[in-house]
Amino acid sequence: MSPAPDREALVAAAREAMGRAYAPYSGFKVGAALAFADGTVATGANVENASYGLSLCAETVAAAKAMDAGARGGLVAVAVIGGKSGAPEAVVTPCGRCRQVLSELAQLGGTDPLVWSAGGAEVLETRLSVLLPHAFGPGSLG
Ligand code: THU
Repeated sequence: MSPAPDREALVAAAREAMGRAYAPYSGFKVGAALAFADGTVATGANVENASYGLSLCAETVAAAKAMDAGARGGLVAVAVIGGKSGAPEAVVTPCGRCRQVLSELAQLGGTDPLVWSAGGAEVLETRLSVLLPHAFGPGSLG
């Protein structure tokens, strides 16, 4: 029996991860938390680089950590939070690249994760399939 992910708990995990962001160039710290059907949670924060374009987003770091830990599906919810100097104001939705990275993990397990984008007191709730319709994925390769 898989526990339903708790929105507030997942947003709190993303917020905690945001505190570990390495974002000296943009000053924009982001944290992400991925909830899986087995109850596990993987978190990540953005990791920037002096060669700016090589920076890694929080969601991508979280997905890579989860897959390195063995996850191959079961992604049921994603929480993201971020802001200048770690002070969230506007809601942060996953960037295009991160949508594709998250979609790989979702498609492996046939789930359509909820996406909770937090900013200040507001949480925008959507689904990955809404953020990335008609997604390319493992099944597209034939
Ligand atoms: N960033 C993320 O970590 N996730 C997103 O979904 C949007 C952007 C990071 C990348 C960069 O380190 C900083 O936010 C500013 O773009």
